[in-house]
Amino acid sequence: MSRVSAFDDFLATFDVEPGYLNWAANGPLSPSVRAEVFADADLLGSGRPSSLALVAERVVQAKETAAELLGVEAAELTVQPSATYGLMHALYGLSGAVIASSAEFPSISLTLERAAQASHGEVSARWIDPQDGHVTPDAVAEALDAEVTALAVSHVDFRTGFRVDLAALRDVIGPDRLLIVDAVQSFGIIEDDYTVADVIVGHGYKWLRAGRGTGFARFSPAARERISPVLSGFGGVGGPLPVDDLPAPASDASAYTVNAPDPLAAARLAVGLSDVRDAGVTHIEEAVAAHVDAILEIADRHGIPVRSPRDRARRAGIVTLAPEHPAPLSAALTNAGVVATSRGDAVRVAPHAGTADDTLRMLDDAIASAGNEKFTSA
Ligand SMILES: Cc1ncc(COP(=O)(O)O)c(C=O)c1O
Repeated sequence: MSRVSAFDDFLATFDVEPGYLNWAANGPLSPSVRAEVFADADLLGSGRPSSLALVAERVVQAKETAAELLGVEAAELTVQPSATYGLMHALYGLSGAVIASSAEFPSISLTLERAAQASHGEVSARWIDPQDGHVTPDAVAEALDAEVTALAVSHVDFRTGFRVDLAALRDVIGPDRLLIVDAVQSFGIIEDDYTVADVIVGHGYKWLRAGRGTGFARFSPAARERISPVLSGFGGVGGPLPVDDLPAPASDASAYTVNAPDPLAAARLAVGLSDVRDAGVTHIEEAVAAHVDAILEIADRHGIPVRSPRDRARRAGIVTLAPEHPAPLSAALTNAGVVATSRGDAVRVAPHAGTADDTLRMLDDAIASAGNEKFTSA
């Protein structure tokens, strides 16, 4: 099948109800993921070793497909209960100062704080507070000194949708510090050179439409050298069950594992990943960008200020509307059946590749029906 028709098939799988613009929070399960759940549950119910092995094979497939999409070796991939678990493995095992924005999603900020507290001085947080929360190379450069061993950053900021320049951040920290990237809001919808990061974490419950329990993390050989696997469990020894024995963690990325993964979750992740791989991330990125353009046009036409970047290279699938009066906008969307995230003084809308025109029309109509004067002070 050609890439274009595979992409058309992918678009046809979006059977979510019209009005859904909350992909940055939660991705309703795709039809193939739903089918996989039923099939695997049947296999696991049989008790047949070959059936159990078939489901277990999905763990390998998930790692291989995630590695393929990231452009790295499958042996560097681990599956995790969630993205935050991957960040915990990374941040608890570091030493030195870690640069992070205090405006990061708590998967980075709170995990770093807890890691610092638990480390008795071994790890410290070097908080930065860059303008608009944008982690730019300049903002990082200002905070660099000899104590800094790593930068932890979201590829795409959950609040504003700002996409960092991974290659430029790598350049500014140099080859000897670790680049730890939370790719939750980009992986699967943004094509980029992910290999510049030593640690990349993501999950399947938003843009991959694979549900919870589907975290994954990549640890490069450099990461394995410099991050002590302090949270490693018996699943991280890489050999037979260590009974009557206390072996060291594995020498590769599998060290950052606590116990065997849930094969049902890994199967959902594997299917979500292969759907995206087959459709082509470039096509998905293009479609998401076109929907974001359409939403920006709607916001502009209604005079609603936007807090997200407009430059395609600096954004992904998030548009943050920042009206003077957010509550009436939020209410208008809810009343019209438009699903978005209202938080603080902003309303975040996030389309996926398969978001249909009727959903964008619902957004437009909902804003129009409530009247602009309720959103702006003008
Ligand atoms: C940027 C970012 N990182 C991490 C998470 C949470 O990831 P998980 O639930 O897989 O730990 C979210 C959830 O919204 C997020 O937006």
